[in-house]
Amino acid sequence: AERVFSGVQPTGNLHLGNYLGAIKRFVALQESHECIYCVVDLHAITVWQDPAELKRHIREVTAAFIACGIDPKRHIVFNQSQVSGHAELAWVFNCVARMGWLNRMTQFKEKAGKDRENVSLGLFAYPSLMAADILLYRATHVPVGEDQKQHLELTRDIAQKFNTDFGPSIAENGFGEGYFPLTEPLIAGPATRVMSLRDGSKKMSKSDASDMSRINLTDDADAIASKVRKAKTDPEPLPSEEEGLKARPEADNLVGIYAALSDTTKQAVLTEYGGGQFSTFKMALVDLAVAKLGPIGGEMQRLMGDVSAIDAILKDGADRARVIADQTIRDVKDIVGMVRA
Ligand code: TYM
Repeated sequence: AERVFSGVQPTGNLHLGNYLGAIKRFVALQESHECIYCVVDLHAITVWQDPAELKRHIREVTAAFIACGIDPKRHIVFNQSQVSGHAELAWVFNCVARMGWLNRMTQFKEKAGKDRENVSLGLFAYPSLMAADILLYRATHVPVGEDQKQHLELTRDIAQKFNTDFGPSIAENGFGEGYFPLTEPLIAGPATRVMSLRDGSKKMSKSDASDMSRINLTDDADAIASKVRKAKTDPEPLPSEEEGLKARPEADNLVGIYAALSDTTKQAVLTEYGGGQFSTFKMALVDLAVAKLGPIGGEMQRLMGDVSAIDAILKDGADRARVIADQTIRDVKDIVGMVRA
């Protein structure tokens, strides 16, 4: 059976990149798959978070999921820390993954920077917890942005090593060839890597110091309009063919955003706007972005007005996630050789 899992960190400033690279695709997959969407609060604390802010952000990501169209009744929406299996399986995976594998993670290198001695041990083990998130539900497909690709390769490596390290025990316990699936990443569409509006060589990120670099899901129409109008561009008119975007990262980014927001391709956007001035295209992009994001921001705000309703969704989701997770933990304990008395 095909099962989708994905997660979003509650670290503030959910933006257009999170929406186009991930959440919008989560919504689409609901029609064809059983989906589990997780607010990964255990991942968030790999970097210190203010406790009151963390709580607010957990509820805000939940509100964003629902405002974007995820149905928490047909699928599962919950926050990671409420299902203890994530932390338990992560420990087992910490003992399966090799130091060398984690040393190669580019996201760790970027986040740790030069101060490697002073980042948390959790930040180093982050990808192992991510593998646990996915494999706890034996998910087969994981929709993410381009930046998570290496983490998903590691997830496959961990699954494979677990399956071989414990091969005979997996068979003895009646699970056949391998226990964990080799998960497929779903990284597709025109906006798998949305770039900063101020710098076409940097990805749009929650933590960029400049709020002008990103469109937040909670931005109002005026903020969206001014950010798009002021977005960095080059002086050339838009090309008519996609090849013409190659050495033009800012133009490429805006065309990709337009294509993703309107569910079409970059080429289709260029067929319509190619040869014209940037200002004309930007005006169309403002209208499109306001039309698509305005209602989401409004709905998030409405949902955030009733915290107990959000918490009830998270509780219900966690209760249902736990049923699947607890079974995996029992199986893993049997496979690894822990006594369950
Ligand atoms: P996070 O919280 O940084 O981002 C959430 C999702 O948004 C995508 N994304 C982007 N996509 C396109 N352009 C961008 N500029 C952009 N920025 C972010 C991310 O790729 C991601 O899909 N490690 C994950 C969270 C996680 C997870 C998991 C994901 C924890 N466990 C299990 C999948 C499966 C993260 O930090 O995402």
